[in-house]
Amino acid sequence: MSVCIAVSAERAGAEARVALTPEVAGRLVQDGLRVLVEQGAGAGAGFSDAAYAASGAEPVDSGRLSETAEILLRLGPPSLEALRAWPRERTLLGFLEPLQRPELVRLLCERGDTAFALELLPRSTRAQAMDALSSQRSIAGYRAVLLAAERYGRFLPMLTTPTGTVRPARVLVVGAGVAGLQAIATAKRLGALVEAFDVRSATREQVVSLGARFLDSGISAETEGGYARDLTEEEKQRQQEFLAEAVAKSNILITTAEIPGRPAPRIISAAMSKRMASGAVVIDLAAASGGNCEVTQPGTWSTTREGVQVYGPLNAAAEMAPQASELYARNLAQMLKLLVRDGALNPDWEDAIVRESCLCKHGKLCYEAAAPGEQAQ
Ligand code: NAI
Repeated sequence: MSVCIAVSAERAGAEARVALTPEVAGRLVQDGLRVLVEQGAGAGAGFSDAAYAASGAEPVDSGRLSETAEILLRLGPPSLEALRAWPRERTLLGFLEPLQRPELVRLLCERGDTAFALELLPRSTRAQAMDALSSQRSIAGYRAVLLAAERYGRFLPMLTTPTGTVRPARVLVVGAGVAGLQAIATAKRLGALVEAFDVRSATREQVVSLGARFLDSGISAETEGGYARDLTEEEKQRQQEFLAEAVAKSNILITTAEIPGRPAPRIISAAMSKRMASGAVVIDLAAASGGNCEVTQPGTWSTTREGVQVYGPLNAAAEMAPQASELYARNLAQMLKLLVRDGALNPDWEDAIVRESCLCKHGKLCYEAAAPGEQAQ
């Protein structure tokens, strides 16, 4: 009997992505797995049931999906109701949002499930191939620049025209993690003049290597786990004063700053964005966790009294669902190699990637609500 995995439809909000694409499903089938896909699960990302069937996967209705599958692949967390309808003592893999959903974690434990949360993966070189946070944030960074460029209504590069020179757009990226670096690279490719800011000193070199200017505030807030920490009130004040001029001068501002498990840091006050020119664009990629900008209205475009256009996408990667699903599916396929071995569901518990991403093992909680990278085993 081959290991059977199931892909259910994502039903949360505007989620258009799917955990597995026909291409990756086909590779898993070739590797000897049985792949069940809930009918219509790929529709939002442009993948038809026929495409899954052609790759060797089996489109089935939701009832049949749960009958035999040992592993459930998810993109986002399942609803409590959906999980209750699923047979107990199964294995789940996906973004399970353990810090935001304690009741889901409790239910997984009560049911005796084993669950792997991709948010908990170590950010190590070896884990890169399965680092779904990175693949999805990279898409978000790219998407942010395209959204801004489209709204901006002017050229981004410097152009010499018969009627004079067009000055390049100034793009400021706040937060130079995965999303920020992709935003910088994309804005550079479009010819903009790019500046970036972060509180982790390691980002300076990465920003400069992409051809952008690094704004150094002298504030360093890197933790041992590689993530940023919350700033003190005094540091926040210093940061705002330091950034005020660069924000005022920017035509496009893209903010990406996050602190895992915490509300996003509020970096750009309303007074700061007030000084931007009419027609300028702000894309706040941290909107889902509260936003980096005071003026952001999560999930919608708005225009300030001064004419600044602001958008805080709640799920920027899902706005490029085909690409996002493709990269996510590849991340999952890599992770499955550590979970399914010798034709059986047999996670390699010796492997740090398996151990650290494990939320619960046969119902026993193996993660404590600390920042990723600091959790107990
Ligand atoms: P994230 O999404 O948690 O945060 C985005 C960025 O916001 C980070 O660069 C963070 O330093 C910055 N930030 C937080 N508070 C800020 C503030 N007040 N002002 C300005 N910037 C602020 O970060 P992401 O993209 O998930 O990356 C987290 C870490 O993981 C980084 O150290 C990154 O280099 C590392 N990483 C390592 C990988 C590897 O293979 N070794 C792969 C991917 C990420």
